[in-house]
Amino acid sequence: MTQKILIIDFGSQVTKLIARRVREIGFYSEIINYHEDFTKIKDFAPAAIIFSGGPASVNADNAPDLSAEIFKLNIPILGICYGQQLICRKLGGQVSYADNHEYGKAEIAILTEHPLLADVHNKQVWMSHGDVVDQLPENFKAIAKTDSAPFAVIANDLEKIYAMQFHPEVVHTICGTEIIKNFLTKICALTPDWNMHNYKDVAIQQIKEKVGTKKVICGVSGGVDSTVTAALINAAIGEQLTCIFVDTGLLRKNEAEQVKEVFSSFAKNFIFVDAGEIFLSKLAGISDPEQKRKIIGRTFIEIFDQEAAKIPDADFLAQGTLYPDVIESSHPTGGASQTIKSHHNVGGLPEEMKLQLLEPLRELFKDEVRALGIELDVPEDLVYRHPFPGPGLAIRIPGEITEDKVKILQEADDIFISSIKQAGLYQEIWQAFAVLLPVKTVGVMGDQRTYENVLALRAVTASDGMTAEYYHFEHEFLGKVATKIINEVRGVNRVTYDITSKPPGTIEWE
Ligand code: XMP
Repeated sequence: MTQKILIIDFGSQVTKLIARRVREIGFYSEIINYHEDFTKIKDFAPAAIIFSGGPASVNADNAPDLSAEIFKLNIPILGICYGQQLICRKLGGQVSYADNHEYGKAEIAILTEHPLLADVHNKQVWMSHGDVVDQLPENFKAIAKTDSAPFAVIANDLEKIYAMQFHPEVVHTICGTEIIKNFLTKICALTPDWNMHNYKDVAIQQIKEKVGTKKVICGVSGGVDSTVTAALINAAIGEQLTCIFVDTGLLRKNEAEQVKEVFSSFAKNFIFVDAGEIFLSKLAGISDPEQKRKIIGRTFIEIFDQEAAKIPDADFLAQGTLYPDVIESSHPTGGASQTIKSHHNVGGLPEEMKLQLLEPLRELFKDEVRALGIELDVPEDLVYRHPFPGPGLAIRIPGEITEDKVKILQEADDIFISSIKQAGLYQEIWQAFAVLLPVKTVGVMGDQRTYENVLALRAVTASDGMTAEYYHFEHEFLGKVATKIINEVRGVNRVTYDITSKPPGTIEWE
């Protein structure tokens, strides 16, 4: 039985990181919104509870609050920032609005040796708060301080309640992970038991129980999420699963063939739809980026629906929804509805099919999905592949799309990506690709004048694609790639490198 750690979210922008850290340490964790029904907390049966930070002041009207019953559950609690202030206020301490808000680095001084602070060799911590605790509740003592915070870390060993002013979950708190780990392993005396090797069997069992003898349809795109979703469901129910892959003709070089090969090797029912010509004919003469997206989305759904309708007795539609999407939709300050990425997801399946969603990756972060993919023997280059947009190369060819342009782009992109892989840089980069520009320039090759297209190369680092920094290649590397592309790809005679970050640019050019 997996031990579960519950993180109660009071609205911090970095709550997700607490869950990440706890999972990295080797414990299953979930985030719950502070205003969820209290019985949910009890029903979750956590082995330990962590209160997140949050932007509010605990003394404000309508400040996020929680039933004091939580302290009677006899479950160890760790409070972070707002979590600390809430603990102190609810247990009889005093919290006031600080004259000087503190944001950024600080140094803690350890006052008493304590298991919570074992192995904290680097004392740098990250502060981000307005309120401060100025009187501790009964049974609490300070075990570390900073110049401005006498109660930087506090402990109540009697009731196993601990709290800190700073954020241990962010990387700027150098030994933050150690503190969280000490809480879970030394204070709560838990042994790490969460890893993808163990989880694989649990997840397979859950799918078997949920699906029973029914049928499942899974749309696959060649991306890691849908591939791992399919591989996992396949391991659970084999021939009750049908995978559908629509080849838009707008994928990277050899990608469709690779998907076909991988899926044919394990899926009992795999439908490959070669729809490249249909997509190209519908896109003919279209230059506007949004129109391209709409046409591709609509066409994709039409084709997917036709294929799905051939399995009329299906009960489930599988989707590769990940935990960050789930958190996003329940964040107290965000509240954004779940992002359905592109047309690869539901959207337009025939009403009469009445499919239930099957989302076996709902509990996982991206790196966990990758680790699970490896456990399921999904090929490594597919597991670690860069993200790729639903509309594919269509949004990397500004202007009108033709078969020739797609081919040129595939070849050039392949040279760029292969060179990045050879240089050992692929994993450092969030996304890299080429863009074929609708601009012709004059060049000279041998003694011949050329008049061909310009190609732009783009590579960025990012953690979620919301913001991005252009990748700083060595000039020599870029020079070699440019030469290789111009020598080997007919139709390109000039290569440029895009040094725009996001914002103000976007990652894709359209
Ligand atoms: P932008 O260009 O908005 O891209 O900075 C951020 C991330 O989203 C991907 N992207 C898309 N993915 N359908 C998708 O499935 C789309 O229409 C789409 N547009 C952009 C992009 O590749 C990057 O990872």
